[in-house]
Amino acid sequence: MKAVIPAAGIGTRFLPVTKEQPKEMLPVLDKPAIQFVVEEAIDSGISDIAIITGRGKRAIENHFDRSFGLEHFLHQKNKDDYRDMVKRIGEMADIMYVRQKELNGLGDAVYTARGFIDGEHFAVMLGDDIFLGATPCTKQLMEVHEKYDAPVLAVQAKPREELGRYGVIKAEPIGHGIHKIVDIIEKPDPAEAPSNLATMGRYILPGEIFESLERTERGWGGEIQLTDAIRNLLEERDFYAYEFRGIRYDIGTPIGWLKSNAELALKDERYGAEFREFLESLLG
Ligand code: G1P
Repeated sequence: MKAVIPAAGIGTRFLPVTKEQPKEMLPVLDKPAIQFVVEEAIDSGISDIAIITGRGKRAIENHFDRSFGLEHFLHQKNKDDYRDMVKRIGEMADIMYVRQKELNGLGDAVYTARGFIDGEHFAVMLGDDIFLGATPCTKQLMEVHEKYDAPVLAVQAKPREELGRYGVIKAEPIGHGIHKIVDIIEKPDPAEAPSNLATMGRYILPGEIFESLERTERGWGGEIQLTDAIRNLLEERDFYAYEFRGIRYDIGTPIGWLKSNAELALKDERYGAEFREFLESLLG
């Protein structure tokens, strides 16, 4: 299976830090957020990756490239641990970059990757969403996909007042956290949301999504929405949703980013004890 990682968005919710820097490069503890996404793909057994970028996103390409000058410098300074870490990032995966030239929404971003996918199912992993947990979220979706030979979306139950931020499904539960999707709405009015199950930035989609995207009219925010292209396909084929195990953070907002950092810092063997003590002293 291949993965498409959309990372072209301008990061409005995180201005001004995103004025010149890609939000995907924000540090989550000591790694840029997008490295978590690429590592999740690799840990799920995916090594063919396309990252959708745009203007101002060159730091992402450079991050996953080899940096011989830095590696040499670290070696000379007897910092081979760091040298090996830096080298490993440059060799991590086979990554292609495709540019989305105009910001026309998530559906349009995914559509720019059509030449990379050959009719088969593929994973879409949003660069804003990072998942912590024993089994990578994408791997969990792949297991459900294998069982039903069908597309699968990651979902999580959310409080009603938050549903207007997400794609929300109407679904029939079929057991073990798996649902058959009946309908899906992008960013519904919370009062009219068809359930409390929201999509969380990980999808296994069929190759036909590209034809569906061609037919998809502009939707929420005047943009081509991936959710609407999925909705168009519901008449033709079954889609499933899976309530994945693990925690998801939206690092595209300051509060989501802070929470992800706090959890990782508390769990980190280098910083955990000191950080906990610091938090306790702050809270009195
Ligand atoms: C996107 C999708 C939405 C999904 C969300 C998950 O929205 O359009 O359906 O629920 O990601 O993070 P965005 O956060 O880009 O507005």
